[in-house]
Amino acid sequence: MNLILMGLPGAGKGTQAERIVEKYEIPHISTGDMFRTAIKNQTKLGLEAKSYMDKGELVPDEVTIGIVRERLSESDCQKGFLLDGFPRTVAQAEALEEMLDSMGRKLDFVLNVEVPVELLLERLTGRRVSPTTGRTYHVLFNPPKVEGKCDVDGSELVQRDDDKPETVKKRLEVNQQQAKPLYDFYSEKGYLKNVNGDQDINEVFANIDSLLKGIH
Ligand code: AP5
Ligand code: ZN
Repeated sequence: MNLILMGLPGAGKGTQAERIVEKYEIPHISTGDMFRTAIKNQTKLGLEAKSYMDKGELVPDEVTIGIVRERLSESDCQKGFLLDGFPRTVAQAEALEEMLDSMGRKLDFVLNVEVPVELLLERLTGRRVSPTTGRTYHVLFNPPKVEGKCDVDGSELVQRDDDKPETVKKRLEVNQQQAKPLYDFYSEKGYLKNVNGDQDINEVFANIDSLLKGIH
């Protein structure tokens, strides 16, 4: 199963990805997560990515394409993959097409999670994540099940650096500019499946799941 999850910041890509990869046992490839890991490990890639992410801008295509190419060549991606947040520009989509062609692979679906843009600011500023488990929560919409502000392993939940209101506004603006051409690219190729992301998290997953059940 070869999938792409597309959607504006805060649409729920990471939240749905957690559920999809658990059920379908494919690797979750999130370029945002890869950059955050590199930042945590203070690598050269991390330093470069941070300078863009802190401003709410996109990391340059050649850098982003390079890390995805490397990741897709790893053996666990042979059984399939779920790309989350990549591609985000038409240049990235074209590069991915070339990569998949050379590997003799084909996309199944591009799942486009749609949420009205006016809801995204609240979703992003209320998001909290666990630095150890990587799980995502929301102070109102998806609070942690454990008492207090902790995840299941007792880790304290934190806010992402780029979830401050000023950065969120810039991220939304930048991503909205890229959304239409990318949408058209995949729509014309017939891969696009729109999913209503403005419903309960479990409902969104049920919609995605019914699409995925049809694949194999
Ligand atoms: P990335 O980490 O991918 O961030 P993003 O695209 O801005 O998306 P988010 O992770 O913010 O949102 P999400 O859709 O995953 O939502 P989530 O499920 O967490 O990228 C970060 C940065 O890295 C970019 O800004 C860029 O600089 C760089 N980068 C990454 N990829 C790149 C690329 N390909 N090219 C160039 N640069 C790249 O949910 C959000 C909140 O809403 C959570 O609190 C959640 O609990 C809640 N929520 C989720 N679903 C629902 C629901 N149905 N109802 C109510 N609340 C919900
Ligand atoms: Zn995400």
